[in-house]
Amino acid sequence: MYNSKIVGLGKYLPDNIVTNKDLENKIDTSNEWIVERTGIKERRHIVKGDGNTTASMGAKAAKIALENANMSAYEIDLILFATLSPDYYMPGSGVFVQNILNIPTCPAMDIRNACSGFVYGVATADQFIKTGMYKNILVIGSETQSGAIDMTTRGRDIAVIFGDGAGAAVVSRNESKESGILSSHLHSQGEHVDSLVMKAPNTNKWVTEIVNENNPEDSSYYPYMNGKMVFKNAVLRFEEVINEGLIYNNLQTEDIDLLIPHQANLRISQFIQRKLNLRDDQVYNNIMRYGNTTAASIPIALTEAWEEGRLSEGNILVLAAFGAGFSWGSTIIKW
Ligand code: COA
Repeated sequence: MYNSKIVGLGKYLPDNIVTNKDLENKIDTSNEWIVERTGIKERRHIVKGDGNTTASMGAKAAKIALENANMSAYEIDLILFATLSPDYYMPGSGVFVQNILNIPTCPAMDIRNACSGFVYGVATADQFIKTGMYKNILVIGSETQSGAIDMTTRGRDIAVIFGDGAGAAVVSRNESKESGILSSHLHSQGEHVDSLVMKAPNTNKWVTEIVNENNPEDSSYYPYMNGKMVFKNAVLRFEEVINEGLIYNNLQTEDIDLLIPHQANLRISQFIQRKLNLRDDQVYNNIMRYGNTTAASIPIALTEAWEEGRLSEGNILVLAAFGAGFSWGSTIIKW
């Protein structure tokens, strides 16, 4: 059985910074409320006409990841694209990246696990490499949340949290058994589908119907979040799935060199840190600058941590995510 490892990382954030003050001017909220409840100070939003889409941002991050891996796009055997905000309903976003990067005919598939999408992607890549089927896999997380946000007071709980951006990793076959992806642990719980959800368009309510109805009262095509329910479940599942990965690998919390939690909310990260008794230097957070970029948050944070020199050979790195579904997961890596 082969082993896999991350050999290249990249990120792309749109230039347009939206501060809490900017939001104060649009909706009934305040910098104090946002910082106290979420830790977020600013986030990025694409601007209509700036050429950015979920797929093009993903391709930009992927290009940098390939350069850092010293690899040409032709060497990629599989593209895995995690997003909840694809360019189109059909086809998926992976094939757009394939087209932008001029990769001829490798398979491309999308992963629709919202905030857990990148962890699901890394786990999938690891399995394809372990079986020997593929050697080099691009795993991308990219999101354009800004286009689907209700920028009125009705949508303020969502509007202040989410941001746009992309991150990517090249996962490759690793000849050494001493390092690489040790294990992944994935879960979902469909009974909570309604707690974090965007209900339209859907199979019973097509886009044409929504347009024809033109009903401003209808908020079903904006994301809905039961914030308290999400918070309660997130802190529970994050802790559980991190411990599951540690136990599986015979590791203790003291062995963690860096935990990169999905950047859902700074209070959630701080809660997990306290519960696991981790020092500040063991946990990476950048939600203050980018907000919650769902599937893109872990690869953006991972790239940034790597750029800052926070990862050295032999380090134990833990990725953990929780999001809509609910679905959650962890990946334990020896760097
Ligand atoms: N600005 C100002 N006030 C706001 C607001 C905003 N952006 N959003 C909501 N409020 C108001 C509410 O309307 C409510 O007012 P009321 O008391 O008059 O009814 C009040 O603030 C408290 O709202 P509540 O929803 O109870 O706040 P909360 O303490 O649960 O915090 C979240 C809200 C969303 C920050 C919190 O629930 C949370 O962090 N949940 C997890 C979210 C998350 O991580 N999502 C990503 C999952 S991947």
